[in-house]
Amino acid sequence: MTKEFPKGFLWGAAASAQQLEGASSEAKKAKTVWDYWYAKEPDKFYQKRGPEHTSNFYYRYKEDIVLMKNVGFNSFRTSISWARLIPDGKKVNKEAVSFYRDLFERLNKEGIKPIANLFHFDMPLRLHKIGGWENKEVLEEFYYYAKVAFETFGDLVFDWVTFNEPIVPIEMGYLNDKHLPGIWDMERAMQAGFNTMVAHKKAVKAFKEANIEGGKIGIILNLTPSYPKGENVEDIRAAEIADAFFNKSFLDPAVLGRYPRVIRDVLKTEGIKVNYSQEELDLIKNYKVDFLGVNYYQPRRVQKGDSKSNFKQGFEKYFRSYKWPKAKMNPHRGWEIYEKGIYDIAINLRDCYSNIPWFVAENGMGVEGEEKFIKNGMVMDDYRIEFMSEHLTWLHKAIQEGSNCFGYHVWTFIDNWSWLNEYKNRYGLYRVDLLNQKRTIKKSGRWFYNLATTNKLIE
Ligand code: NOJ
Repeated sequence: MTKEFPKGFLWGAAASAQQLEGASSEAKKAKTVWDYWYAKEPDKFYQKRGPEHTSNFYYRYKEDIVLMKNVGFNSFRTSISWARLIPDGKKVNKEAVSFYRDLFERLNKEGIKPIANLFHFDMPLRLHKIGGWENKEVLEEFYYYAKVAFETFGDLVFDWVTFNEPIVPIEMGYLNDKHLPGIWDMERAMQAGFNTMVAHKKAVKAFKEANIEGGKIGIILNLTPSYPKGENVEDIRAAEIADAFFNKSFLDPAVLGRYPRVIRDVLKTEGIKVNYSQEELDLIKNYKVDFLGVNYYQPRRVQKGDSKSNFKQGFEKYFRSYKWPKAKMNPHRGWEIYEKGIYDIAINLRDCYSNIPWFVAENGMGVEGEEKFIKNGMVMDDYRIEFMSEHLTWLHKAIQEGSNCFGYHVWTFIDNWSWLNEYKNRYGLYRVDLLNQKRTIKKSGRWFYNLATTNKLIE
């Protein structure tokens, strides 16, 4: 069966500055929290590969754009590095301006629409040192950075994103030790989360002020549909609370301009206070996004919480995860694969979020030990083709039913460096040889080319 996608549908991939560029302390770039963490604790990083061990896009972007063409992309999302663009928070770095301008110009010239994101986990070190998102001064700095980015690149980029997965640095840094500051503290997590939303709103305000003709601004969220274990009241309530904290906490203020009641109720019961001003509430109410990006990898399966658990350190009191016995697992990475989740997200956005225009900003399959699938020099990743194909089948059905989806981006273009996991799980449409940085197309890259250039999924 052939499934045709809407005219002008975006096909491409996502990436981020810290994960792709390399040159992490070159060309006047200041340090980020990741550069700092690696210098301090290299053992935490898989095979001790730090942020400078990425795929060197800073130097290879011209050749890489050709590779993008060869897999049929008509769009590409990456982030601008805050620490590269404004190393000291004041003066704009000319080398960074030339790099990003040339990148965006070349993408446009090749018919690959650039989508630029402002923040993808890479907090400048000097701002991390004064408290990161917990410090309201950082929100002002973010406003300035956004303003500079819009003014500097607004003639080349028309589709802008403020944050990628803003909840991740909060969850992983304040309720886990996978990002810095690496603590377990609900009160600080809530404050940092709220402040991040205010930073997002300030950037939206800066965008409106910049008045970019034909420009649109959005946010990218990792949505995890939450499914209850049983049909009983307690499990259903657990799923509702999980959904409120992990999805609606950013989705609702970004799209609807308000926080859901459930969150306010739980925080009140737990005596958790968040500091905010009237001005911040007004920003939240008034500056809504034009579009949404959704990163979808796996759903959340929850059951009722454990009333004895301490809420100050995590959500177990209200919901606990469980393993769905029917779950189909990615054998190469241990994550659940649930393709219908993408349809459920689409229908929810259609029905509860005024059918906001949205795109799949990340979807992909991480595979450990992918070298075992190499035959005659090519990774024969049929599992990845099946993964994308099944997600796209559900996406297509949602579009047929009225979902306002305008694109699909895979994570990712070439195998890339990933936070503490580095190159453990490969995600690319191209394999990267870590010894010489050579990129080789995978079977999925060939498949993607047909998909993108025909705008049709052929099963
Ligand atoms: C989400 C993030 O945006 C990206 O940075 C990460 O590497 C991928 N998903 C894969 O886990």
